[in-house]
Amino acid sequence: MIQFRSRPGFDAEASVIFLTEELMKAKNFKDFHWASLESELTAFSSSKQFSGKGCELFPLSSGRQIILLVGLGKEAELTSTAIRSAVRKAVISSYLRHAKSVELIMGQGRQDDETVIAMIEGVMIGGYAWKKYKKPANSDNLAALEKHYTIVASEKKAYHDAIRISEGVNLARDLVNDNADLVTSTYIEKTVKTVVKEQPEITLEILGPKELKAQGLNLHLAVNQGSANEPRLILIHYHGSKNKTIDAAIVGKGLTFDTGGLNLKTTGHIETMRTDMAGAAAVIGTLQNVIALKLKKNLLFVCAVAENAIGSKAYKPGDVITGYAGKSVEIDNTDAEGRLVLADALAYVDKNYKPKRIVDLATLTGACVVALGYDYSGLLSNDPSLAKQLIDAAQKTDDRVWQLPLYPELKGIMDSPIADLRNTSNRKGAGTITGAYFLQQFIDEKTPWAHLDIAGSAFCEKGINRMYFDYGATGAGVRLITEFVRSL
Ligand code: BES
Ligand code: ZN
Ligand code: ZN
Repeated sequence: MIQFRSRPGFDAEASVIFLTEELMKAKNFKDFHWASLESELTAFSSSKQFSGKGCELFPLSSGRQIILLVGLGKEAELTSTAIRSAVRKAVISSYLRHAKSVELIMGQGRQDDETVIAMIEGVMIGGYAWKKYKKPANSDNLAALEKHYTIVASEKKAYHDAIRISEGVNLARDLVNDNADLVTSTYIEKTVKTVVKEQPEITLEILGPKELKAQGLNLHLAVNQGSANEPRLILIHYHGSKNKTIDAAIVGKGLTFDTGGLNLKTTGHIETMRTDMAGAAAVIGTLQNVIALKLKKNLLFVCAVAENAIGSKAYKPGDVITGYAGKSVEIDNTDAEGRLVLADALAYVDKNYKPKRIVDLATLTGACVVALGYDYSGLLSNDPSLAKQLIDAAQKTDDRVWQLPLYPELKGIMDSPIADLRNTSNRKGAGTITGAYFLQQFIDEKTPWAHLDIAGSAFCEKGINRMYFDYGATGAGVRLITEFVRSL
């Protein structure tokens, strides 16, 4: 729980003071005069035990109260990312000290929106850890402690919105982090139904095996063929405006597990493949946010859900399958399954609903991890102004994207001798671009479309230090798309 108050009270079990290097050098602690901390801080600053470097931590005990000093680094280099990281540090430290209530205080009384929203996200996103199946090391269950955070800032609606948005991020993370055998297509369907419950602006359209067959979404069906779970195409129509047109369709890849199919993934590549529904998870997190923020837009949220399993029923390399768009596809590699499921979903959405723009999110290619690593999602688009809108939203939210090109000379790279297309490229390299190029073939060239490859950004693997994220899912795309649809 997070509360706001305009002046510090120093009445919580732990008070955290965030200080820059400049503030420590200047020894200007007038802000803390009335809490009898001014002289203590001034004396302390001379001892040079704490200089205010980024994420530096110093416990300054004051009677029975815990006072933690956390560094923010140099003023000129201070970013909202650094604030999130420093707050994460404070949350973890006060947690380890068993404090049930924590007050977060910016030195110099910094209270601008960017700072306060970064503090909220530092608590909510930085403080998130996936511990559902882990017993706490010591006997008293830290995770069970109900935590109260007080941020020193005057309360605003925008701050409560930021809390809701972070909840959407963490919903997406829970869905990705939990077991693939729990988070199946029917579980995802149930989750969507819970999120949209009793919302009058929602209509649901759910395609199961029968409907997918009747409508000819054969690429989607083929990918799911080896699975014991049913495929689902879940369309959530959100009518927030009286206009007829759909302002944006947001489509997520929802592979509840990707074994690679008969082109089976190997050790080192298969372990985290429950994350392959992170696109769909981001769609659901964003949907929850759009409902919470009551956005006055018409939006279409789509989860394309399947499981890429192995077994005698699994689809085979060499098969040629014609999907919803009427194009035949040679299956060269069963591990390039996300593009097949998305091809049908994108074509279905584009043809039937003609949204003003389409954005898809997908853990599509390992190549994206090679190209961009883990901190940025890949962005590819057929429309420069749509790309710009997404880049702006990324800058605002710290949910980062980096654009890669799509260009006319790619024509022919997915040609097949026996089908209209092949699901792999006939050139070496640039796997993220060729994956996006394949998707592009299933959308009208007049529909502005952007593809976000979140293969690296969606999940934080062991040993990889990712800014203010703990091990596991990051909720990549939720803050980005929430801001994007809000700004339309
Ligand atoms: N789900 C994977 C991509 C992936 C890799 C996501 C690493 C997250 C982390 C996708 O379905 C896949 O396997 N893509 C293949 C495509 C190739 C066969 C053309 C890949 O990237 O190797
Ligand atoms: Zn795959
Ligand atoms: Zn996949």
